[in-house]
Amino acid sequence: MSPAHPDSTDLDRLHAAVKREKADQAPENAPAPMWATFLLMIVAVIAGAQLGGGNLGGLKFSVNNPFPAPTPGDDIRPGGGGGADALDPFALAMKKGAGGYAVCGGCHQGNGAGIPGQFPPLAGSEWVTGGTERLIRVVQHGLVGAITVKGQGYNTPGGMQPFGAAMSSQDLANVLTYIRNSWGNEGTMITKEMVQKVRDEEKRASQWTEADLKPFADKNVPGDIPAGPGVTAAAAPAAK
Ligand code: HEC
Repeated sequence: MSPAHPDSTDLDRLHAAVKREKADQAPENAPAPMWATFLLMIVAVIAGAQLGGGNLGGLKFSVNNPFPAPTPGDDIRPGGGGGADALDPFALAMKKGAGGYAVCGGCHQGNGAGIPGQFPPLAGSEWVTGGTERLIRVVQHGLVGAITVKGQGYNTPGGMQPFGAAMSSQDLANVLTYIRNSWGNEGTMITKEMVQKVRDEEKRASQWTEADLKPFADKNVPGDIPAGPGVTAAAAPAAK
């Protein structure tokens, strides 16, 4: 018996060759050819550009950009960009109060002049620039019956509804600061702490009357008032 081939008896080398051989690859497990992969990538880029609303030439994705650049002045975080640091507490309250005033403007009008014989004016009203104790109570619980504003009598059936349940202390404070400092009015800021104090003090289910509120006409809710028109943070505010 002669050896068929010098290698055929070398078991180690034979096995090593078998080990190097890869297992047969089933056709369905074969990796996709490179050209197919590239084709898919190109299709994906085109589709992405279409969905993004951009044009393919420049690949612009600005149209449906869900993260638009902030509008200057919108960002109210301290130190947040957009020149927002410029908004001090008073300016911020005025800005938000102007928006909140929409719920009042239907009756008292956008210019605060009211409607003669029906809705009393807020512009130039002693109820608005007077004691903050009275003003907060009026808006918190509502007001009914005959009242006098700027020398004119009003007695609208139903009076004014309470807004305390519908608006947060912060929202009320902003709106009241706004009406005290619009249309020529000048008054101190009203803070949410001041509104909250009246809220905690007065648990009242019915609307106020003018007579009920007499004792509060010239009283101000004590509290820290940030500097604003006619007041510095240090000065104790006086009723106007
Ligand atoms: C549906 C109409 C209506 C809306 C809305 C309304 N008010 Fe009035 N308001 C009245 C009426 C009517 C009176 C007078 C009540 C009376 O005759 O007793 C009044 C009186 C007042 C007064 C006292 C009198 C004066 O003119 O200064 C103030 C202050 C006031 N409202 C503020 C507000 C504020 C702030 C809002 C918004 C949060 C508001 N009102 C929303 C109808 C309304």
